[in-house]
Amino acid sequence: MSKPYALVTGASSGIGLATAKALAERGYAVEGVARNFSKTDFDGLQKTELDLSLVADLPAALQGFKRAPNTLILNAGYGQFGGIEQFSHDQIRRLVDTNLVSNLFLIKHFLPKMKRQGSGDIVLIGSESAVQGAKAGSIYCATKFAIRGLAQSLRADCSSSNIRVILVNPGPVESNFFDELNFEPQRGECFEIPAESVADTIMSALEQPRSVVIDEINMQPIKRSFKKK
Ligand SMILES: NC(=O)c1ccc[n+]([C@@H]2O[C@H](COP(=O)([O-])OP(=O)(O)OC[C@H]3O[C@@H](n4cnc5c(N)ncnc54)[C@H](OP(=O)(O)O)[C@@H]3O)[C@@H](O)[C@H]2O)c1
Repeated sequence: MSKPYALVTGASSGIGLATAKALAERGYAVEGVARNFSKTDFDGLQKTELDLSLVADLPAALQGFKRAPNTLILNAGYGQFGGIEQFSHDQIRRLVDTNLVSNLFLIKHFLPKMKRQGSGDIVLIGSESAVQGAKAGSIYCATKFAIRGLAQSLRADCSSSNIRVILVNPGPVESNFFDELNFEPQRGECFEIPAESVADTIMSALEQPRSVVIDEINMQPIKRSFKKK
């Protein structure tokens, strides 16, 4: 029997890479999508380089993805924070296209194949910013709130097709997410969720009986404290 196939976006680092590793350990054939895998020291996945922010090119690029995933992990994204008037139009477009529109296009491409297959799981990585707005978060929160609405609606649309939709909303995670930002959580396990813990949480949701949907998971480190860089 062929291995189950998982497609993980944003698999070059952080949550996506930890999730790709966890899936590979469980016997999945894993394909990862990101712009650049040159620093990804894991050979257990097929690496496909694609810029998901270029949504006008995405429908054509997706034609190369023929196989129906058993598990689709929609994780790629980034944060950019500040007052909305500090963003250029291009910055707004790019953040919304990467964090939201690309996921809509990916689901549009893969959902009919998954339905024909008769089962599957779609995991969306939201954020604490999907449930609570915050200062300087207008655009990032708008994208993540939209992901939460998408998850809720898609779940209702897919339940009769045996496709589970799971939303994971982490608080601060240890990853490259803060590399380009002017703030970061205090270092240490009390203040940052290990990316592997997010991956383990996804695995435990996936490993429930197929009749059980863990619809939404909120995760936080035990303490919250951020510092300016
Ligand atoms: N870290 C946190 O505190 C935190 C908290 C809540 C939610 N999240 C969410 O978790 C998800 C993963 O972030 P992370 O924390 O694991 O950060 P990360 O280490 O920076 O990972 C982000 C991943 O997304 C990929 N990506 C970004 N832009 C892309 C694009 N245009 N095309 C294709 N791939 C792209 C990156 O790969 P390339 O750069 O190689 O393209 C990378 O693999 C994001 O959706 C983020 O919003 C993170």
